[in-house]
Amino acid sequence: MASVGLFRLPEAGLTPRVAPLGTAKKPLPIIIDCDPGLDDALAIACAVVRPELKLLAVTSVGGNADVRHCTENALRLLQLYGAADVPVAEGAVGPLSGPLERATEIHGATGLGSTTIPAAARKADPEGAVALMARTLAASAEPVVLVPIGPLTNIALLIRSYPHLAPKISHICLMGGSVGEGNSSASAEFNIYADPTAAEIVFNSGLPITMIGLDVTHHAILDRSILERFAALPGTSAKVASELLKFSFDRSAAWGQGEKMAIHDAVAVLHLAIPDLVGVSRYHVVVDSTQGPARGRTIGDANPYRLKRDKLESNCDVGLTIDSKRFADEMVDIYSKLP
Ligand code: BDR
Ligand code: CA
Repeated sequence: MASVGLFRLPEAGLTPRVAPLGTAKKPLPIIIDCDPGLDDALAIACAVVRPELKLLAVTSVGGNADVRHCTENALRLLQLYGAADVPVAEGAVGPLSGPLERATEIHGATGLGSTTIPAAARKADPEGAVALMARTLAASAEPVVLVPIGPLTNIALLIRSYPHLAPKISHICLMGGSVGEGNSSASAEFNIYADPTAAEIVFNSGLPITMIGLDVTHHAILDRSILERFAALPGTSAKVASELLKFSFDRSAAWGQGEKMAIHDAVAVLHLAIPDLVGVSRYHVVVDSTQGPARGRTIGDANPYRLKRDKLESNCDVGLTIDSKRFADEMVDIYSKLP
């Protein structure tokens, strides 16, 4: 049964999704902007395997680890997953403003726990993340969905540097934010907290957005029972994923939080491939980019009275519900199809 986001405002019922949906017959072109990252690694696997999606490019951003590590991890993961032909380019080292935030205590110093994946034969595209995204958008016959699953620095730079390409962006399906509690602080989720200025640019861009935040991703949990299921799979990719998960389970257990891990980033990718996995509701979301205690908070309002009174339009879908068991089954299915 679908679980309900813990922090859902009482007045917000589920509403029909706005995000486009790929099908096996007509795969949705997507670009992933990421900071791999344990859960980013699983999200990239989803994009490679699901026939409803066509992964055009992967760009890196400094976030969970130093951007150099994130770029290298993206290249290595794509090669491991048999998708070495997907172009990769490196993006911003750190945020548009404010201090450099890292999550190496969660993801390890290199971003992939203690796992070393064999080096990639291919190098990152020297033009850089923002130029690669722009070139890919310009070259695409149909509009593309951006899937940012790290801090929003590169996406903000893209929006500001290439405004004429906005019509080529059909949607931004991002992992970040929360209308409830945060994780980096009580107020803010990591990807938004790491660059609130960039997040503000993205949320104010007028582009259609789905915010896959902690409200839903805290229900996309894998626990130790998944390891047995992954062990039964033949590929090296599943073995690597098991190692990444074990690293996270051990850390989380050591912190007294139970042997489980929220696979945040995979939810943003799967929402574009599976019609009824994630339940959403329309919200008006603004980002707090001040220096105060709510820095990085995504303030979501779905109260019809206030929205009307203040003449505010809803500007994004917010993910609220997910079928947790189905999510785990999908992850096993995805890794069963990888080398
Ligand atoms: C987000 O922060 C990162 O640590 C994860 O990769 C995910 O994108 C969750 O808050
Ligand atoms: Ca991430």
